[in-house]
Amino acid sequence: QAFFRPILSAAPPSPTKRHTKISVIGAGNVGMAIAQTILTQDLADELALVDAKSDKLRGEMLDLRHAAAFLPRTKITADVDYAITAGSDLCIVTAGARQMPGETRLNLLQRNVSLYRAIIPPLVKYSPETILLIVSNPVDILTYVAWKLSGFPSNRVIGSGTNLDSSRFRFLIADHLDVNAQDVQAYIIGEHGDSSVALWSSISVGGVPILSFLDKQEIAYEKETLENIHKEVIDGAYEVIRLKGYTSWAIGYSVANLARTLLRDQRRIHPVSVIAKGFYGIEGGDVFLSLPAQLGRSGVLGIANVHLNNEETQRLKASAATISELTSQLEI
Ligand code: NAI
Ligand code: LAC
Repeated sequence: QAFFRPILSAAPPSPTKRHTKISVIGAGNVGMAIAQTILTQDLADELALVDAKSDKLRGEMLDLRHAAAFLPRTKITADVDYAITAGSDLCIVTAGARQMPGETRLNLLQRNVSLYRAIIPPLVKYSPETILLIVSNPVDILTYVAWKLSGFPSNRVIGSGTNLDSSRFRFLIADHLDVNAQDVQAYIIGEHGDSSVALWSSISVGGVPILSFLDKQEIAYEKETLENIHKEVIDGAYEVIRLKGYTSWAIGYSVANLARTLLRDQRRIHPVSVIAKGFYGIEGGDVFLSLPAQLGRSGVLGIANVHLNNEETQRLKASAATISELTSQLEI
């Protein structure tokens, strides 16, 4: 006796709703924060987890499954075999070494490039139409590595980039002005790291350009105050790593924010790591770094033409040079 008696003599044809599948590679602090946020925000019909540690992987999968009564219905699978990722709409790669206190993101380069040689090809094999969203550090260079290894068009290879730095920046400005961070429109671009660039000249609060906002409010500010806020953004990750050993929650929300824009075709503009040559005066070799990019279901739709003043342009070129120098030395 079936549990439910059908009301029709034959099962109705199921609507052709698109089945959305996300794979998260790396079930560590970051991967699991991303997975948890994807489930909470109901961003996928299926979530596949991959890691090198099979027991930890199975434990994380079961632990998430046990929350089913409190979450939207999502099929959760996990395996060390990349076949589990087959047919993914989005593959989020967080696998790799993380910074120890005092290490920079760039210090992780060689260790994580060699991991990517083993991770990217099977993802491409099982999901040739997927979007690759790279999170492991150094994220800008690893996004370039993923692009080269995948053979994908550059619109389908994106790094989480300074979407996270910009969130930290918006928090600090909002905290400074006692407003909601969601009403602060602010971009950090360039390297997700020590050479990032704060676009002060285009920041607005509730639609009012911040510098004229401060003038109108007769809030005295020195250039030093602005620099200090940007320095807090750059130091933010190092402080959290020093205190708790890693960062996870903010990147979890940042990547879920990107996944929503991509998979729901939101066409929103995010500062993410994209192929930057030819934009904002960046020339030379292929380099990925964060620029304000419009994102949708096919990945990067275009690069926004945000006004940069001369100082911001020079700083962006310097950031590009930092990344480009390391990228050009790579043997992929
Ligand atoms: P973690 O050590 O907690 O997790 C890394 C996971 O990768 C481990 O579970 C490990 O077993 C797995 N792994 C290693 N090699 C693998 C392979 N070949 N295949 C599959 N899985 C493999 O590290 P955490 O804290 O999750 O950080 C991961 C990465 O994310 C680091 O590179 C970190 O720097 C980066 N990160 C990037 C951020 C960003 O804004 N782009 C923010 C925070 C972290
Ligand atoms: C961050 C580092 C870990 O949290 O990339 O910004």
